Amino acid sequence: MPSMLEVSNVWKRFDRAGHASPAVAGVSFRVEEGEFVSIVGSSGCGKSTLLNIIAGLVTPDSGQVAMRGVPVTGAHRSVGYTFQQPSLLPWRTVCANVELGLELRGVDRGTRRRVAMDLIEQVGLAEFSEAYPHQLSGGMAKRAEIVRVLAIDPELLLMDEPFGALDAQTKIHMQNLLLHLLQMMHKTVIFITHDLEEAVVLSDRVITMAARPGRVIREHPIILDRPRDSRTARLDSRFASYLKPVWEDIEPLGGEQHAA
Ligand SMILES: Nc1ncnc2c1ncn2[C@@H]1O[C@H](COP(=O)(O)OP(=O)(O)OP(=O)(O)O)[C@@H](O)[C@H]1O
Ligand SMILES: [Mg+2]
Repeated sequence: MPSMLEVSNVWKRFDRAGHASPAVAGVSFRVEEGEFVSIVGSSGCGKSTLLNIIAGLVTPDSGQVAMRGVPVTGAHRSVGYTFQQPSLLPWRTVCANVELGLELRGVDRGTRRRVAMDLIEQVGLAEFSEAYPHQLSGGMAKRAEIVRVLAIDPELLLMDEPFGALDAQTKIHMQNLLLHLLQMMHKTVIFITHDLEEAVVLSDRVITMAARPGRVIREHPIILDRPRDSRTARLDSRFASYLKPVWEDIEPLGGEQHAA
C-alpha cells in the first residue's frame, strides 16, 4: 500500500542575486495515515516552500510528491492548509469565514452553517461567530483559521507555524485544543514550528531540517502516550530524552546552522 504522502527527492531553486539558489535540496520523507509529523529547522531552510509543494501550489524543479500513490500536479481538494500569514477574510464574519470552503464546494446554506457552527462551538468561539476578524484576539483568529480548514474535512492538514505569534499560555491552550480536535477527527497532519518543545509535545515524528540548502537532517520518532495533552507530555520522563536530540540537530555546537 502506498503511503498517505510520499515526498521523493524534491528540489526547488529560486533566483537570488542572479543565480539559482536551492531552497529545497533533495528532500524525501513519508507520512502515514493518521500520523502527526512536525518539521523544524532554522528560518529560511525551506519549510514553507516544502508545504507549498505538498499542497500543489508550487511546482518542484525535480522530484515528486504523491498522495496515496497519485502524483500531486496542482492544488488539490484533499489538503487543508493553514498559512503562515493570517488569512481570514476581513470582510467576512467568523462564521462566514469558516463556511467559505463549503460555499466554494456548493454545499447548501443550512448544511454549511450547521457544520461551521458545530466546529466554532468546539473551539469556544460561539459568542464570536458574528464578529469580524479585527474584533478577535490572536488566539481566537487562529482557532477560526483552524476550524475553517477542518470544515472542508481534508485528509491531510498542513499547518505552517500556526501558534508562532501567540503568548506562551495561549499557545499551550491551542496545543491542547488541537490535540483534542485531532483525537476526535483522526487527521493526518504536517506541522511546522520553531518551538522544539511544541514539536515533541504534538508529534508522532519530528523531522529536522538544515538550511542552505534546505535538506532533511534526521527523523525522530516520538513515542508518548495518546491521548496526550501539553502538560502530561512535558511531564513524561521520556520527554527530555526526545527533545535533546532534536535540539542537537537544530543547534549543533558552533551554531553553523545559524551562520548567515
Ligand atoms: N517565491 C520566492 N521567490 C524567491 N525566493 C523564495 C521564494 N519563496 C521562498 N524563497 C526563498 O527560499 C528560501 C526558503 O524560504 P521558506 O519561506 O520556504 O523558508 P522557511 O523555512 O519557511 O522560513 P521561516 O521559518 O522564516 O518561515 C528562502 O531563502 C527564501 O528567501
Ligand atoms: Mg515559513
